[in-house]
Amino acid sequence: MTQHRAAKVAAVTGANRGLGRAIAVELAREGYAVVVGSRTLANASKTLEEIKSLGGEAVAAPCDVTEYAQVEQFVAKAIDHFGRLDVLINNAGIIEPMTLLHQSEPAAWELSIKTNLLGVYYGCRAVVPHFEAQGGGIIVNISSGAAHRPRLRWSAYCSSKAGVAMLTQCLALETQAMGIRVYGFQPAVVNTDMQRKIRSRRVNEVSDLPADQLLDPAIPAKVVVRLCQLAPEDLNGQDLTIRDPSLLRRLGLEGVMG
Ligand SMILES: NC(=O)c1ccc[n+]([C@@H]2O[C@H](COP(=O)([O-])OP(=O)(O)OC[C@H]3O[C@@H](n4cnc5c(N)ncnc54)[C@H](OP(=O)(O)O)[C@@H]3O)[C@@H](O)[C@H]2O)c1
Repeated sequence: MTQHRAAKVAAVTGANRGLGRAIAVELAREGYAVVVGSRTLANASKTLEEIKSLGGEAVAAPCDVTEYAQVEQFVAKAIDHFGRLDVLINNAGIIEPMTLLHQSEPAAWELSIKTNLLGVYYGCRAVVPHFEAQGGGIIVNISSGAAHRPRLRWSAYCSSKAGVAMLTQCLALETQAMGIRVYGFQPAVVNTDMQRKIRSRRVNEVSDLPADQLLDPAIPAKVVVRLCQLAPEDLNGQDLTIRDPSLLRRLGLEGVMG
């Protein structure tokens, strides 16, 4: 049963920490009611508190992106609770395994694909029928430069993100006529637990980036939310990057990188 009718509603996977939390908070700041996805519900409390302290509306829902049934229920929760869903951010992701392919544990490689690629497929699969019935909606798949550039000891991560970039293109082609927009978004190097892990392991050149090149998660979060608000039709299906000054200009965020 719908509990709170909201004007605009967004759902974010992996929203309990890192970039996902920053996106959830920025969405709330911009007036969206937010469904905070977290595989452990108790971990969502910090995001919920931050949104409530801004006067925003949010509800948490369990969402392990490796389980289709959970992802389906997560999407359904938005519609049950807020009466609609306008935006899905497929953000949850893992960096492991960081090892040479021939030394990797097959189960760890599989988990990367399951989380980073299948998890995005599950989100899209679950939400598109709702968006179609509603006459439109926006999906942002959090991508990475690793989708387009091979990196040592990141075969699983690079392959999973490359798969997502193609999924984004294919889905945009299929759903454009339904009024749906699908974007990939590369947030550059963001100061989160994932980067802390990368920097502690020193597996490739990304580990050695100077600390002052790490972005505050609030910066890419602003770009993601503005992208959802403006939803440019000609960028549908593209794997966009925060490093593209023309994108930032288009979105009216020229100065956002500082
Ligand atoms: N940080 C960067 O520099 C960077 C650069 C490019 C792209 N990205 C992408 O940005 C996204 C967010 O990364 P981040 O840097 O914020 O990483 P993070 O700090 O490690 O956070 C990862 C998030 O994903 C969640 N997650 C992991 N496995 C999950 C699963 N099976 N089901 C549901 N949630 C799951 C985590 O939840 P738990 O707390 O339950 O583990 C956490 O909320 C990822 O897609 C990542 O690939 C990050």
